[in-house]
Order: sequence, then structure tokens, then C-alpha cells
Amino acid sequence: MDHELTLRVDGTTRRVLVDPRTSLLDALRQRLGNTSPKKGCDHGQCGACTVLVDGTRVLSCLTLAVTRDGADVVTADGLAGLPDASAGEHPVHRAFVAEDGFQCGFCTPGQVCSAVGMLDELDRGRPSAVTGDLTGTPELDDAEIAERMSGNLCRCGAYPGIRAAVARVAHEREGA
Ligand code: FES
Ligand code: FES
Repeated sequence: MDHELTLRVDGTTRRVLVDPRTSLLDALRQRLGNTSPKKGCDHGQCGACTVLVDGTRVLSCLTLAVTRDGADVVTADGLAGLPDASAGEHPVHRAFVAEDGFQCGFCTPGQVCSAVGMLDELDRGRPSAVTGDLTGTPELDDAEIAERMSGNLCRCGAYPGIRAAVARVAHEREGA
């Protein structure tokens, strides 16, 4: 039996009927017509489906939609509506363009959502597997960026540009 959910998606409240087995990714793409999050592996291995749910990055292919009734979902498109965005773009969007952080672009929506999520995790002082000092604020060096973005795969191999884009945003924020 289908369940009715309410999701706030990229700033708009939407109601959707889903089978309880429906993933959040399929609810977004197939029921709500939001094709910003991409279906790569559908098994939690590539990160192409990453969205922000209540401010935290999640793999929408591994998330059952019924478990997120009432949630605030932000996709790569919706990043443009966040408070730190301007002129229709989020700073992470601009940095990916400036640093040549994509080729085919299929992984990019997940990469930019993951970047926003991981920068927020850093702001909250969350360590990663490569953080040496667990008592202080982690410094965002290249190894930290690579580790924190390691859940997002890119078949084009745009990793140098992606890491540079994340570093650019982090440095811009430091200077703000
Ligand atoms: S589609 Fe979700 S991790 Fe690959
Ligand atoms: S830019 Fe093509 S998969 Fe990443």
C-alpha cells in the first residue's frame, strides 16, 4: 500500500505517494521529476545520488523515502537557494567551474552536495579517518579533502579539479 509523504525539496513543499520500498532517489527522480540527483550504481558505492537531508549529506539511493517524511531535502539544483548562494549559484558551483572540477558532469551533482556537506562537517569539528589531532579543529589539507570526498567517485577522473574546488571554497570562507 502506498504511503503519502511530505518532503520539502529545494525549498518547495511537495506531497508524494510512494510504495514503502521506494528509495528517496527514486521518489525524487521518478515521482517528483527532480533529476538533479543522479543514479549511478544504486548500491551506495558511487555517491552520484548524494543530497542534503536536513543539512546532512546522505546517499539517497540507500535511504527509504518513508523514513524521511517531513524532511528538508536539498539537491545540487537547490544549493542555489541556500543563504550563502548568490546570483543563482552556490560558491561550490562557482568553484567547480573555476577549477575545472568536472568533465561529463554525471557525478557532479553528488560531488557538489557532498562538498557542501563535508565543509559543514568540518565546521562542526568532525574528524575524518586521516585527521591526526582529534582534539583540535581539523585543517583542510589535500589529504583531508580527498578522504572526506572519497565516497564520491568520478569516472572521468576529475579529482584534481574537485579537490582544488573544495580547497577554493574553504579558503574563500576563511577570508570572508
Ligand atoms: S547511486 Fe547512490 S551511491 Fe551510487
Ligand atoms: S565528471 Fe564525469 S563522472 Fe565525474
